[in-house]
Amino acid sequence: MIKHLTVIISLLFFAPSVSFPGGEQFPNGFHNGGIGPCEGCHSKTQKVPESGSAITAAKDTLSSDAGRGMLNGQDPGSTCLICHTAPKGQKQPSGYFVATCNEDLAAGLSPGQMTPGGDFGWLRKSYHWATLDAGKIKDGESPGERHGHNIVASQFSYNPDSSNVTAPGGVFPSGKLTCTSCHDPHGGYRMLSDGSFSTNSAIPAIASGSYKSSPLPDTAHAIGSYRLLAGKGYSPSISDSSVVFTSDPPTAVAPDKYNRAESKHRDTRVAYGSDMSEWCQNCHKPHKHPTGNAAKITPSKSKEYNSYIASGDISGLRSSSYSSLVPFEVGTKDYMELKRLAGNGGEGGDMSGPLAGENIICLTCHRAHAGGWDSITRWNTKADLIVYDGKFPGIDSGAPTYIAQGRTSAETRKAYYDRPADSFAVFQRGLCSKCHAKD
Ligand code: HEC
Ligand code: HEC
Ligand code: HEC
Ligand code: HEC
Ligand code: HEC
Ligand code: HEC
Repeated sequence: MIKHLTVIISLLFFAPSVSFPGGEQFPNGFHNGGIGPCEGCHSKTQKVPESGSAITAAKDTLSSDAGRGMLNGQDPGSTCLICHTAPKGQKQPSGYFVATCNEDLAAGLSPGQMTPGGDFGWLRKSYHWATLDAGKIKDGESPGERHGHNIVASQFSYNPDSSNVTAPGGVFPSGKLTCTSCHDPHGGYRMLSDGSFSTNSAIPAIASGSYKSSPLPDTAHAIGSYRLLAGKGYSPSISDSSVVFTSDPPTAVAPDKYNRAESKHRDTRVAYGSDMSEWCQNCHKPHKHPTGNAAKITPSKSKEYNSYIASGDISGLRSSSYSSLVPFEVGTKDYMELKRLAGNGGEGGDMSGPLAGENIICLTCHRAHAGGWDSITRWNTKADLIVYDGKFPGIDSGAPTYIAQGRTSAETRKAYYDRPADSFAVFQRGLCSKCHAKD
């Protein structure tokens, strides 16, 4: 392992043409699709064995309790957030930050990171409002904990979900849910040149496999699984749970610049290829809406998706109909094809909508981390309108209380990744209509 690390590090130094989405702080990347430098996460007092498989050999010295003590953070999730939280004052989306720092989340301020997975800061935004319903005042609420996967990271005040004891439709305990429940911190899962996944460290991961610019795997070199996601057999000892993953990581490719505001028709397209829903089902039961490799978008639904621009406007063309608020999976493991598709509107990539036969996935409606709406949906599924009278509904925009739902108009806009309201109709319905406008 250590020998492989040396190989990887020297490869990185001598391959200046590869660009690293790590940014200035880590010009050579950190995980690079595999196991990063131990001291980035483990305290320097930890002894790293000189030979053999570092992880297996170190297991004796790092029982899960001792292991916790030897992490740089208070717990695994906090260890990740030391690097993955945006520094104070960093309100613009940037690089690999997946959480806005607590001090930047006072009332009225919204999380600013806009990655495909979403900013965990939304877990801190609770909204309350009162509506008049059949002559009675009814309280409405959208508690922060409904807005995402409640990751445990005590040093950053992220606590377990108080109402879901386990994953809905599954047994994974909420009290143990953290970054390493989904991502393998040691980047053990790699994609081989035939598109299959392996944890065999004899075939080293030469780089991240997540990006449009990632290198291709070959017979001697693998690349990291999409976003270091874990696969078959994964059961982190620290999670203390009976859940053992039965599905491998999904196949997908993100554009190199993936954390950005989405101005009008400039959506960030992650090319989801296959197995995303199956992967979510490592912890969840299938959803009532069809999803997954076998949930094919019918010819009539693909036609609706492609012609739909906004409520009342169905003059769209397939070549520009992609919406990151309603993504889909193309149903392939063809890595080259996914690299071709990934991109940002107007800056490379392919913004086409689906062909019949492509897949509906969990991420068609949900984000993986967190977002502005209940049940981590990409748009507000609990209001009839997502744009009201040409403005994003807010307590300051003149929208009815039951549509504004306690947010300011600016907060609502952030939850739609800073698109202008005129990306939609003046009175815009929810986005189920992208495929069900006629139903
Ligand atoms: C990105 C952060 C990160 C890096 C880099 C990292 N580790 Fe870990 N490691 C963790 C976390 C977090 C745990 C706690 C287990 C968990 O949450 O699944 C852990 C647990 C362990 C354990 C306990 C057994 C286990 O697998 O749970 C060993 C042994 C270990 N790490 C060794 C290493 C060695 C050796 C290196 C460097 C070659 C390394 N780690 C690099 C984050 C990291
Ligand atoms: C020492 C800083 C540091 C720590 C600690 C750290 N990361 Fe990262 N992480 C980075 C940097 C830098 C990048 C972007 C470059 C890269 O991927 O190597 C990144 C990227 C990632 C990515 C995208 C990688 C890809 O190839 O698509 C994931 C997923 C991720 N980190 C998860 C984690 C998790 C989970 C932990 C905790 C177990 C963690 N990180 C701890 C610095 C860190
Ligand atoms: C429930 C599973 C799950 C948990 C928990 C989770 N992630 Fe992720 N993460 C994902 C998935 C799936 C993606 C890919 C999202 C996409 O492309 O739409 C992802 C993407 C990422 C990325 C790439 C940027 C992005 O948002 O797309 C980073 C960095 C990352 N995760 C870090 C973390 C860190 C740090 C934590 C803990 C604070 C964490 N993740 C917790 C599943 C999870
Ligand atoms: C490692 C297990 C695990 C994986 C994998 C996982 N989840 Fe979850 N999920 C949980 C747990 C535990 C909860 C309950 C705790 C919470 O809501 O924060 C949960 C809650 C949810 C909720 C309800 C959120 C709320 O508070 O209303 C949604 C929606 C969800 N997950 C979607 C997904 C999607 C989509 C994926 C795949 C991208 C996924 N999950 C992958 C464990 C997982
Ligand atoms: C067509 C859109 C759509 C798809 C596809 C979809 N969901 Fe959902 N999901 C929703 C909506 C809307 C809600 C909230 C209302 C509800 O409970 O029906 C929700 C709620 C949830 C909840 C919370 C339910 C609870 O009991 O608290 C979980 C968990 C969840 N979805 C997981 C998933 C997973 C996992 C997948 C993929 C296997 C998936 N969803 C696919 C739209 C979708
Ligand atoms: C990407 C396209 C797409 C989106 C977005 C979408 N659906 Fe569907 N929906 C389908 C397809 C395809 C089917 C199954 C085939 C059919 O009925 O034409 C379906 C079926 C259904 C069904 C019938 C259920 C069944 O088992 O036959 C309902 C109800 C439904 N969708 C509701 C919703 C709701 C509510 C939303 C928004 C939260 C939504 N859909 C978003 C494509 C979509």
